[in-house]
Amino acid sequence: MAESFDAAGLPVDKAARYRAIAGEIAAVLGDEPDRTARMATVSAMLAAAFPKFLWTGFYVVDPSKPDELVIGPYQGSLGCLRIAFGRGVCGAAAARRETVIVPDVEAFPGHIACDSRSRSEIVAPVFDAEGTLVGVLDVDSAELAAFDFADAAGLQTILKQTFARD
Ligand code: SME
Repeated sequence: MAESFDAAGLPVDKAARYRAIAGEIAAVLGDEPDRTARMATVSAMLAAAFPKFLWTGFYVVDPSKPDELVIGPYQGSLGCLRIAFGRGVCGAAAARRETVIVPDVEAFPGHIACDSRSRSEIVAPVFDAEGTLVGVLDVDSAELAAFDFADAAGLQTILKQTFARD
């Protein structure tokens, strides 16, 4: 339950920590069907579980502009409101429909700097149960090269269990 969520008690090993937080997220969400509630809970619990996550949140596909992302639930400093498919790391992940890991944001052409402290970033696509892209999860860190394949696998597992059930 949310009341007993204790990030300090999570495993140190990254893959194990993702498995533990995936279980905590599933327990908190239960059968809650609202996608915004799910996104808000995932961003809050991931940000609490991983102290190096500087910005953790969702951009969702705008139903009225299917090639544009609009900001969704997030934890962190003020995020930019809209990102076109193909622009920045978020737009690249949405256009390619695949996870993008950026070890150094200054080396990524077209990176959108919402928080100047961000040094590295991972963005994973979010699909519903039909395989339709509904948005992306964006995580930024103030550390260079903060994210690797363990983060990609951990985040993808959480996104699948949380959003591919609509
Ligand atoms: N850096 C992202 C923009 C979103 S913010 O980091 C919150 C990008 O290049 O898509």
